[in-house]
Amino acid sequence: MRVLSIASEVFPLIKTGGLADVAGALPSALAEHGCDVVTMLPGYPVVLRAIEKAGAKPEVLPLDPVLGNDARIFAVALDGLKLFVLDCPALYDRLGGPYTDAGGHDFPDNWMRFAALSKAGARVAQGAIDGFRPDIVHAHDWQAALTPVYLAASNRPRPRTVLTIHNLAFQGNYPSQVFPDLDLPAATWSIEGVEYYGNVGFLKGGLHACDLVTTVSPTYAKEIVTDGGGMGLDGLLRGRGTRLVGIVNGIDTGVWNPEADPAIAAHYSAGNLRARAHNKRAIEGEFGLRREDGPIFAVVSRLTWQKGLDLVAGACNALLERGIRLVVVGSGEAMIEGAFQAAHSRQPDRVGVRIGYDETLSHRVQAGADAILIPSRFEPCGLTQLYGLRYGCIPIVAQVGGLADTVVDANYAAVSAGAATGVIFSPPDEATLVAAVDRALGLYEQPAVWRKMQVAAMKSDVSWIKSARLYAALYRDLLKE
Ligand code: ADP
Ligand code: GLC
Repeated sequence: MRVLSIASEVFPLIKTGGLADVAGALPSALAEHGCDVVTMLPGYPVVLRAIEKAGAKPEVLPLDPVLGNDARIFAVALDGLKLFVLDCPALYDRLGGPYTDAGGHDFPDNWMRFAALSKAGARVAQGAIDGFRPDIVHAHDWQAALTPVYLAASNRPRPRTVLTIHNLAFQGNYPSQVFPDLDLPAATWSIEGVEYYGNVGFLKGGLHACDLVTTVSPTYAKEIVTDGGGMGLDGLLRGRGTRLVGIVNGIDTGVWNPEADPAIAAHYSAGNLRARAHNKRAIEGEFGLRREDGPIFAVVSRLTWQKGLDLVAGACNALLERGIRLVVVGSGEAMIEGAFQAAHSRQPDRVGVRIGYDETLSHRVQAGADAILIPSRFEPCGLTQLYGLRYGCIPIVAQVGGLADTVVDANYAAVSAGAATGVIFSPPDEATLVAAVDRALGLYEQPAVWRKMQVAAMKSDVSWIKSARLYAALYRDLLKE
């Protein structure tokens, strides 16, 4: 089976968050199930540089202009991925990140940049490239969500389409004025199409048009059909009935492997946890923390309201009073960044803060910290708790979305059975967070219990194996229709 996956970020080429990890890791897991996946992404400068640096010789495939922009496709195999890189300098050859300029402001023409990705994806899906005809198109998030819209609007044969919601908070809504430039039939300006309260809704249109909607955990799939969790799209999603399926994300257990990770000071395994202590010493050094016996708790995250990190910032003094040292790696809202920086200034040897994005540091923190705090207000899946599990860095998480689906709370029964892998609390607020931290500390003070939790965490199956099988089965079902 041939699958065309379309995403705006793909690890290790370009990453701002979990979407990249998923788009980068799922293809090889799907290969085990007979799926031959080609991944299409925009030709951002970092992507083109990576191709050049690897000495890869892409095949250059011509494409008609996309929404008026000259474009072509570089077909290349890189980092174990088969890629179709959409080279379209007018839209992608820019300084900054995939969505923002160097100053962190959204590009004003993001609607055009990602409509073009979707449009080119739809063309490729319908045979624009000689010899390539996918059976399934798998689009990710709003940036690729118009692909199923373009395909449904065409009267030529098309592959079956899957659209995965990684985060309903990002919907790609734009003023109606952009509609004429999307090159969509007039009929798509409708409730069944892209019209969304008088605006153009990229995700909204895609959710209607695709054959199957998936999201990244079973609990999030339930949350988004409720008033409180649907972010305005709950009615539409309820309407999709059994066409909405939640499949929990896995992680690349090759990239995230404490037994072989090149980023960490000492390798270790569930059977040799003692060696893990070197990694704790290493992050003490790296963050300039006072060397002492107590635990180190960590945050590795976008510092945003979604992630509830204002709660950690607010509870910071309470954590420090309990003898916890804190390391924070992240960037985001200025208020939250500032609160952590202030905590660091007050107690530089107890609070280590790295504002910014640092992939290898995130590995060292997971390998060295005792616990990772994830008090998200909503969390479609979350990957950092999975990295925590894999690295024996006990996740302390809010009971939402994929966090609830992947962590086993250390209640009495689970601890007695040796099944506990973390601490879950609800609802996410400062008091429940501090109570959860106290519960974690109670467990930490019993080294044998803590070790057992670490071992159970490290043995939990966080790989893509089960979930890739589920995706492949869904693809097959679609092809039978
Ligand atoms: P989201 O995609 O909503 O941000 P996820 O938990 O799914 O949340 O994925 C976040 C990914 O980004 C993880 O791989 C995490 O390790 C990584 N990450 C987040 N912030 C940073 C940072 N400041 N430095 C390095 N990696 C980070
Ligand atoms: C989004 C979600 C996150 C999820 C990731 C990958 O960024 O916020 O919860 O893990 O996508 O699916």
